[in-house]
Amino acid sequence: MWGGRFDEGIDALMARFNNSFPFDQRMWREDIRGSMAWARQLAQAGVISAEERDTLLAGLTAVYAEFDEGRFEARPADEDIHTAVERRLGELVGAVAGKLHTGRSRNDQVATDVRLWAIEAIRRIDDGLRTLQQALLAQAEAADDAVMPGYTHLQRAQPVLLAHWLLSHFWPLQRDRERLADCAKRTAVLPLGSGAIAGTPLAIDRAALAADLGMAAISPNSIDAVSDRDFIAEFLFCAALIGIHLSRLAEDIIIYSSAEFGFVVLADAYSTGSSLMPQKKNPDSFELLRSKSGRLTGNLVTVLTVLKGLPAAYDKDLQEDKEPLFDAADTLELALPVATGAVATARFRHDRMRAALDDAMLATDVADYLVMRGVPFREAHHVVGRLVREAEQRGVALSALPPGVFLAAHPACGNDILQVFDIDRSVAQRRVPGATAPEAVREQIAQARRYVEER
Ligand code: ARG
Repeated sequence: MWGGRFDEGIDALMARFNNSFPFDQRMWREDIRGSMAWARQLAQAGVISAEERDTLLAGLTAVYAEFDEGRFEARPADEDIHTAVERRLGELVGAVAGKLHTGRSRNDQVATDVRLWAIEAIRRIDDGLRTLQQALLAQAEAADDAVMPGYTHLQRAQPVLLAHWLLSHFWPLQRDRERLADCAKRTAVLPLGSGAIAGTPLAIDRAALAADLGMAAISPNSIDAVSDRDFIAEFLFCAALIGIHLSRLAEDIIIYSSAEFGFVVLADAYSTGSSLMPQKKNPDSFELLRSKSGRLTGNLVTVLTVLKGLPAAYDKDLQEDKEPLFDAADTLELALPVATGAVATARFRHDRMRAALDDAMLATDVADYLVMRGVPFREAHHVVGRLVREAEQRGVALSALPPGVFLAAHPACGNDILQVFDIDRSVAQRRVPGATAPEAVREQIAQARRYVEER
């Protein structure tokens, strides 16, 4: 492939170190697609004849079939997917194969292949995200008006609808999808035609080439084009953040599935047992989902670190971009359907959630009651704080304090104060858009539904 100026062969270990075929062979579709488009442009530019073009296309189709049917036989000397395809093409069609690489470099070729691969990966991951959103949405719809304790600092805060909490994990995934769609725009930019660094000397119609490959634009600078891996870093950031969103969903569910909470029961299909303790049913699906954010974040850091300080244009360092990219995509393509199945089959215990609600979670509502009667919020907060302490000292629930204690606490307190101690009423009052009242949540569900049904 490049042996002309060399006297000796490559050291065996160096070959292993250098060869990317073991991992970049998975871009065989993209590599062959790119080569077919290139062959068409070579003919268009008058560099090869129509007949030579057709020979190349037929040969590439045959190589495609070999990969597709698992018949492709790699050779130890195949350095990467690009050289492997070209080597095999030569075996099939003879000397004309040597014309395919005219005016092209592996530098613009590999950049094109990876972009084509990433575009497909983004599409699959968007699908996975959307399916998980649907599972959350279906659970939110099934939750009806069930109420649960809402936590801040993991301490009981205020009652919220179960559906509201479920949807709190829907919107991060929506932002992930939007971020990926934005990343896709910068990924669908064609580097081919940039050559090694300076651009091809052939009269290639790059816009037509881009259209042929389904790319939206062509790169404006050949030096930048062969070294730009921003789209990979962006993709990996999107993937890392998806991992973090999955880990937060997972952590909520792991806590809620513990005996102490008992809010959710996971399906056996997404749990495992202990080899030692017969009573155990562990939320392994969600524990692994929680942990995957580690490797996803690691992949992002790997690529950023590889890119930092690289001199202009292509450097072999860039070969190290692929494994983190592939790993991130593989991780999500398994994690997202598992998350979907585990969420879809989880059973939420409305009774346990209701039982975990206590009157103290309505302390803010008592303060709001005073505020509605003209008491400044800060003062109301203080008054209710004292009532809470009083209830604690007497060892009773806030609502169980004798009415006289309330009346004595502040002149604005009326006999109707005890009506505040109604969980459903508290929830129903929060009806601004984005809040937890059943009518607001129904509106939120409708909005969420529009998002998952789009596209
Ligand atoms: N396997 C290489 C990579 O992944 C392809 C490009 C090689 N280019 C070169 N000038 N050696 O980046």
